[in-house]
Amino acid sequence: MPLVQRRVLFVCLGNICRSPLAEGLFRHHVLQAGLEGQIYVDSAGTGAWHVGNPPDPRSVSIGNVHGVDISRQRARQVEGADFNSFHHIIAMDRSNLQALEEFAPSSYSATTRLLLQASGQDVPDPYYGGSDGFQLVYEMLRDGTFELLEEIRAEMDC
Ligand code: 4NP
Repeated sequence: MPLVQRRVLFVCLGNICRSPLAEGLFRHHVLQAGLEGQIYVDSAGTGAWHVGNPPDPRSVSIGNVHGVDISRQRARQVEGADFNSFHHIIAMDRSNLQALEEFAPSSYSATTRLLLQASGQDVPDPYYGGSDGFQLVYEMLRDGTFELLEEIRAEMDC
């Protein structure tokens, strides 16, 4: 059994729309690359409103359309310990990144960054919008998580 070499945490506000789908898509890319024993993935929210809840049905549905089942995931809130137990903490938007930086313990080993760091784009919060918002979010997350895995593979040399 290969050893886990990287732990990646996706973070949004509620952990029911964007970050659960990012977790599911990234895990899908990890499986496709045959790296499931080596990269661990999870997601969390900066807020606690939805702790214990399944993902939003609109995220579950768009995942299902593309063969990615996120229905068994459950929301949790970011914890101080995450900053030392994950290698990469990946925020969906600037406000998530700011909340993470404010909440972080005084010293920690994780790197924190935006998912779409290269373009500096936010993955927009789709919670209060219609389902087109989820289509856009899906496309941004699919491509962003694929690029992220490429970067992590380069870092791991595999
Ligand atoms: P998420 O979306 O951060 O992508 O999970 C949201 C879900 C719930 C709320 C806000 C954003 N809320 O205010 O309850």
